[in-house]
Parts: sequence; structure tokens; C-alpha cells
Amino acid sequence: MTEQTGNLTFGIIKPDAVRGGKTGGVISRIIDGGFKIRGMKLIHMTLAEAQGFYAVHRERPFFGELTTFMSSGPCVVLALEKEGGAVKAWRDLMGATDPSKADAGTIRKEFANSIGENAVHGSDSEENAALEIAYFFSRLELVNGE
Ligand code: CMP
Repeated sequence: MTEQTGNLTFGIIKPDAVRGGKTGGVISRIIDGGFKIRGMKLIHMTLAEAQGFYAVHRERPFFGELTTFMSSGPCVVLALEKEGGAVKAWRDLMGATDPSKADAGTIRKEFANSIGENAVHGSDSEENAALEIAYFFSRLELVNGE
């Protein structure tokens, strides 16, 4: 495994998209977008696990809604690699947090319904990408992606 964290980001296909049968569609968009999948698994977070993942948002008014939703069903967690900066490339492919503001051609424009249930998550920085990948994946679960 290389240690070029700048080329890695973390993503989630959220419970609304998994429940709605969009997992394959989102993964197609990821592959067509030129990402290599370095880690991928289906999980169902407990409320405590969702609260730990989103701890940075614990003072926000939507924290309860967010963590209840994220623990409401299975989701797919992903470690994604892309040369030249995976964090920005994945955020560009996802589109704006609020799908009503997302550009045409983005995943959220195509698959998301609301700001709370917005189909996908992506890290906002290289530092958080490394922390978020480590929250969900052991080293053995990450491959070189060739
Ligand atoms: P995500 O990228 O997973 O990171 C934090 C999440 O909080 C965000 O996507 C949204 O789904 C959610 N979020 C942000 N703003 C709101 C809001 N006003 N109401 C409900 N959820 C929100």
C-alpha cells in the first residue's frame, strides 16, 4: 500500500441511496469518474458509531436527525483514490450538500432528495480523509486498487 494520502478520500453511500437501490449507480459514477476503489464494505452503523463519526457536528441542531438517519439502515463505506487530489475530485462529483443546489451531472443532483438525506458523504480535507478512512477500515481492508 502506498502512503500518498493526498490521493485518497473517504466516501459513504448513505442509507437513503442504498435503500433506494442506487448503490450500483453511484459506484458506476465513481468508476466512470476515474477513481480507484481501495476499500469498500457494506455496514450498518449503530447510533453510537454514527455519533462518533459525526462528532464534529455534535452541537449542530441537525445532529440528532443526522445520526438517527445514518444509523437507520446499511450504507457503503469507501476509500477512494484519484491522482491529483481525491478530496476535491470526489466533492466535485458529489455536488453541493443541498441537492437542490447541486450542479447537473453530479451524484446528488441525480440521486439525492434533501439536505439531510443526500445520498453520499465525502471528506472535506486530506486530514479528515485519513481520520475517516481509519475510523472504518483496518489496514488489511485497504488494497492497492490495481
Ligand atoms: P455530510 O457530508 O455527510 O456531512 C454532514 C451532513 O450533515 C451533511 O452531509 C448533510 O447530510 C447533513 N446536514 C447538513 N445540513 C443539514 C441540515 N440543515 N439539516 C439536516 N442535515 C444536514
